[in-house]
Amino acid sequence: MASTVNSPSVLTSLPIPCVQTSLLTFKKKQSLRFASKRVVSCRADNGEQNNADSSSSVDRFDRRDMLLGLGSLYGATSLVGDRFALASPIGPDWRRGCTDATAMDDDHPVKSVQCCPPEHTKIIDFELPRVQKIRHRPAAHLVDCNYVYKFELAMERMKALPDDDPRSFKQQAKIHCAYCNEAYFQTRPPRDGPDQKLRIHFSWLFFPFHRMYLYFYERILGDLIGDPDFVMPFWNWDSPCGMAMPEIYADPCSVLYDKLRNDDHRPPNLVDLNDGLDANELKKQGIIFDNLSKTDQIRSNLCLMYRQMVSNGNKPTSFHGKKYRAGCRSALDDECKPEPGGGTIENGAHIAVHKFVGSKRSPDSPYNEDMGNFYSAGRDPLFYAHHANVDRMWNIWRTLPGKDRRDFRDRDWLNSSFLFYDEKKNLVRAKVRQFLDIEKLGYDYQKVDIPWLESKPTPRWPRRGQLKGGQVRGLRAETKEINVFPLVLDKLVRVKVPRPNRSMTKLGEEDDNDEEEEVLIIQNIQVDRNASVKFDVNINTEDDETPIRPEDSEFAGSFTNIPHGMDHADSKLNTSLSLAISELLKDLDVKDGEDIEVTLVPREGAGLVSIGNIKIDYIRE
Ligand code: C2O
Repeated sequence: MASTVNSPSVLTSLPIPCVQTSLLTFKKKQSLRFASKRVVSCRADNGEQNNADSSSSVDRFDRRDMLLGLGSLYGATSLVGDRFALASPIGPDWRRGCTDATAMDDDHPVKSVQCCPPEHTKIIDFELPRVQKIRHRPAAHLVDCNYVYKFELAMERMKALPDDDPRSFKQQAKIHCAYCNEAYFQTRPPRDGPDQKLRIHFSWLFFPFHRMYLYFYERILGDLIGDPDFVMPFWNWDSPCGMAMPEIYADPCSVLYDKLRNDDHRPPNLVDLNDGLDANELKKQGIIFDNLSKTDQIRSNLCLMYRQMVSNGNKPTSFHGKKYRAGCRSALDDECKPEPGGGTIENGAHIAVHKFVGSKRSPDSPYNEDMGNFYSAGRDPLFYAHHANVDRMWNIWRTLPGKDRRDFRDRDWLNSSFLFYDEKKNLVRAKVRQFLDIEKLGYDYQKVDIPWLESKPTPRWPRRGQLKGGQVRGLRAETKEINVFPLVLDKLVRVKVPRPNRSMTKLGEEDDNDEEEEVLIIQNIQVDRNASVKFDVNINTEDDETPIRPEDSEFAGSFTNIPHGMDHADSKLNTSLSLAISELLKDLDVKDGEDIEVTLVPREGAGLVSIGNIKIDYIRE
């Protein structure tokens, strides 16, 4: 990996995280790809091929669009597996304007928030920039004072713009609120479907929307200091040296500071990417979780990253999130639900960092402002560095081995679009298909070590029923049958989940490129959109006294909700969680066809969430 690094190595003096695995193949592929990408002037050869998959498919669809006309009938749908004959990409309906967004939580009244951008009628289509050289976004903990000076100057100027200037910091912050908290209606699908508000979280829109948002934000900052090469920093929270809030954001005299943050989480405190209530709170609920030492916290974070990026996130839907289309035939269809289900990173590390930074509730921050609630998150300058790292994760994910780690080729995704003001105050419509390859957008990320690649969790119990030498079985809840669902999750529950016969689920020949992945799906998770909720999902645990953590193979993942504004008619989030578990089952030595025991452990907001069902499925995308 050393060859890929152009910053000081951070790992040499650290304890070995989890277990050093045989991920040599990973490392090799990473270095090769990074090596080829580093040679910026050679983009036409190797570097370009990295993205051959998606770009060639994009070009192919462009031609189809030209032939058939957008929004008209598409013939052979088998090409990309569209479920409907009509194209139904999502986008905001600008003509119908923007309405007030709302934010509230369980203990506070509805608060209406004005998040609308300045009005404008002329929309221009986004065009890719002419890229002369690739600019590298730096890790926020590695920047020097020259960089900080420039960055602060740009931020100062952005904050000094009049409030109604679409480039001002206030307006930039509102973009997030408007797109998240339902200020826009969706463009109507070709065949009038149910009228829906647009939401950009908990679906396949998550990564591309935020990438575009940052792109225009960065361009505005650069323009304000007359530096077209300006790049924004990323918060490298996935690596030991970056796990505390970056110092440049923590200086109260800096324009990067935000007073609405959790004071207990100032540097050098490390973020807990497996966030949930703290150990003492959990103990009160009878759930044992020890406070972690610094090294344990790092280990836990790295193993969690491995889970979310490598083993759980190995298909487009598990990493990006579920498909979300306009114009479905019934609003009950999963793919028309405004928040059908987020991917591993969105649900996991991403939300944990939001909650880590946001204030505790107080009269000044009744809604966990700023970062702790989506309506206000954009008001903290740290939000953008956080999301730059989220964006970096998408980019890294595309380079991991496995042919299924590729972006969707679905036209509805590729043609989904959003509107932003650019640095010249033009209102620009950008499509997802234009934002897949960051080098075409002119940027990349500083190469730093990626220690989680080697942080594979290990089993607590080698196999169900087998205790390791000296292990004593602790207390254990009884195992319920699958028909206990639906249920309100108010305490730990253990359920026997049958596994369908794999051969029964085989799809037709046409998709033979994609390998099947076994996924555990927690369906119809219902929770008030403004409740803080988290529960863990564990597989084949021997007892309930041993705290299962991300370092353990038995830990399959978590569901988390961060409060985000609501539509009055529909205050419940109804979503699902899919966890890819093929690797986990292999590590736990679970045989084909053998049932598994799934334990759901509430870690925050016990009793506030209900679950419709759990099932196992085999997916190819
Ligand atoms: Cu749009 Cu981190 O949220």
